Amino acid sequence: MAPAPNGNARAYHLCERLLRQWDPMFSRTIDPTRDRRSAEIVAALAERPPGPFRVLELGSGPGPLTEKLLRRFRTCRVVSLDHDPVLLRIGELALRRFHSRATWVLADLRARDWRAELPFQRFDAVVSSLTLHWLEEDEIRNVYRNLHRLLKPGGSFVDGDFLPSRSSREPPERARRRRPAKEDSRLRAFKVQWGTWWNEVATDRSLKGFLREREVRLPGPFPPRRTSGPKTPAPLEFHLEALRAAGFLESHVAWHDRGFRVLVAAR
Ligand SMILES: C[S@@+](CC[C@H](N)C(=O)[O-])C[C@H]1O[C@@H](n2cnc3c(N)ncnc32)[C@H](O)[C@@H]1O
Repeated sequence: MAPAPNGNARAYHLCERLLRQWDPMFSRTIDPTRDRRSAEIVAALAERPPGPFRVLELGSGPGPLTEKLLRRFRTCRVVSLDHDPVLLRIGELALRRFHSRATWVLADLRARDWRAELPFQRFDAVVSSLTLHWLEEDEIRNVYRNLHRLLKPGGSFVDGDFLPSRSSREPPERARRRRPAKEDSRLRAFKVQWGTWWNEVATDRSLKGFLREREVRLPGPFPPRRTSGPKTPAPLEFHLEALRAAGFLESHVAWHDRGFRVLVAAR
């Protein structure tokens, strides 16, 4: 993606602010385990040998995890992939200080050949946060087969997501009825902040073209909400089996809290 024209200080500052707001918008409302989960994803990569390495992030959004990786590992480069052109543009402008260490790729993980959009075909690690639960099971299998091809031998895939185990999964209707009032108020708070966040995006002239592109690629309501994908996310057991079927040697849960897990798979 091309950089913003020189002197576009307003867009730079807005995007930096929008990225700063992203994590707390989730962690203080609907995703209280987020900060610990992100820290576990980063920690899982710390075990790798020293030296330069390349990471692919699936569903990066505006780059909160990309930023943590770039800050923690001075020798890493990150390719951040998402299907939302607005979120990618915000990340690109907000994290421009990392120059060529960050690359932003517009691609849809539901496409069979999404790998073709990448600038490289070999990675030392792949990470993802709160993204794969948006996909159907056959799409996740296709993602895992592609990851197996993209990862170098010895590389790892680290996924932090809502990955409930099969035994604890509830039909969404029943889960909604049982949901404590506190959770409902968190969801309400999130919706207010989400609306404000997107309304702020819409105020910036330099993001207008990206918003129009978003409307074409991801038609739906504004502020955006998920209109496709499974009602209940694929269970942990499905992911373990699909990773094995894709050729991964070993996978295990490195961290968990209330259905949120960090899954680490070795290529
Ligand atoms: C809940 S957000 C998480 C964003 C970020 N990883 C985080 O943890 O804050 C889910 C992200 O996945 C992206 N996403 C969802 N479905 C996708 C798909 N089919 N292809 C690429 N990205 C997708 C969304 O645009 C969004 O940025």
